[in-house]
Amino acid sequence: MSSLPSRVRIVDVGPRDGLQNEKQAIPADVKVELVDRLTDAGFGAIEVTSFVSPKWVPQMADGAEVMTRIRRRPGVVYSVLVPNMKGFEGALAARADEVVVFGAASEAFSQKNINCSIAESIERFRPVAQAARQHGMHVRGAISCALGCPYQGEVKPEAVAYVARLMKDIGVQHVGVADTIGVGTPRATQAAMEAALGVYDIADVSGHFHDTYGQALANIYACLEMGIATFDTSVAGLGGCPYAKGATGNVATEDVLYLLHGLGIETGIDLGKVVAIGQWISGVLGRKAFARAGNAIAVKMAA
Ligand code: HMG
Ligand code: MG
Repeated sequence: MSSLPSRVRIVDVGPRDGLQNEKQAIPADVKVELVDRLTDAGFGAIEVTSFVSPKWVPQMADGAEVMTRIRRRPGVVYSVLVPNMKGFEGALAARADEVVVFGAASEAFSQKNINCSIAESIERFRPVAQAARQHGMHVRGAISCALGCPYQGEVKPEAVAYVARLMKDIGVQHVGVADTIGVGTPRATQAAMEAALGVYDIADVSGHFHDTYGQALANIYACLEMGIATFDTSVAGLGGCPYAKGATGNVATEDVLYLLHGLGIETGIDLGKVVAIGQWISGVLGRKAFARAGNAIAVKMAA
């Protein structure tokens, strides 16, 4: 118990990773309300949108509007994904606090997701990282398919270490190790994390787990045992990646908060409010929330 962190930072990525995969058009009003309600629930960081090609991800085409309309609480980090300088210009105009460049530990996924090799992606990220730092924006890097790839299969920890090193060398300040298709199990997760920790300090490494195989909470616990204290989660378990077929959403924020609070770990986030947000957004999308603890607490709250 004593080896677990006493406080954990949760980044809700629902508005971006969650909604990017939705086929139905979601009005900007809903996206803005989602971000504002997450702000009210106490999150210190929220991934709001992405500045990518609208032909590739139509759902995020209104990113600039959403960023303008959200109500910002001082101290909260509002992040956006950017794949290149064009995306960075959007992020700068939108006054994002943090930009997230997203690479991959798998060559095949890099090609499918951002239409270039890993090496080429780093060359696109290099000016982004430089410009962001000049403008005082924090730069995070996501390493997709760190535990397996839908096109290539197995991914070794060495591939995670390789991309982490390339990111570090171009000035990326933090890396998120992402199990895009949710295939990882705890020991494999620890090996991928170790690879990133060979390059980055522990405070600058986070975990991003999709729950496709139901392993996300176990993997988060495995990370906690290593002292990792930042995780991406998605309210109501929204989402998936449009270029990772069959991948379900991120692990539900509600379930992770239930786990952390049960372990006596502080997050600063109001679980009751997050449960209500999860029920609301799932209603808007016309389905039940993918949040086990979230749904159980919602039943109790209704009674
Ligand atoms: P490309 O076609 O090779 O790019 O796509 P291009 O530079 O040749 O440009 C083609 C067109 O896109 C041009 O427009 C550009 O202006 C436009 P046209 O002349 O044809 O009208 N364009 C842009 N428009 C807006 N914003 C931009 C931008 N860049 C170019 N930033 C590109 C390359 C990277 C742009 C494309 O592949 C793309 O947008 N990919 C994004 C895919 C994506 O968003 N995937 C989901 C996020 S990653 C994820 O979910 C995983 C993560 O959660 C972690 C995990 O779970 O693993 C992060
Ligand atoms: Mg993701």
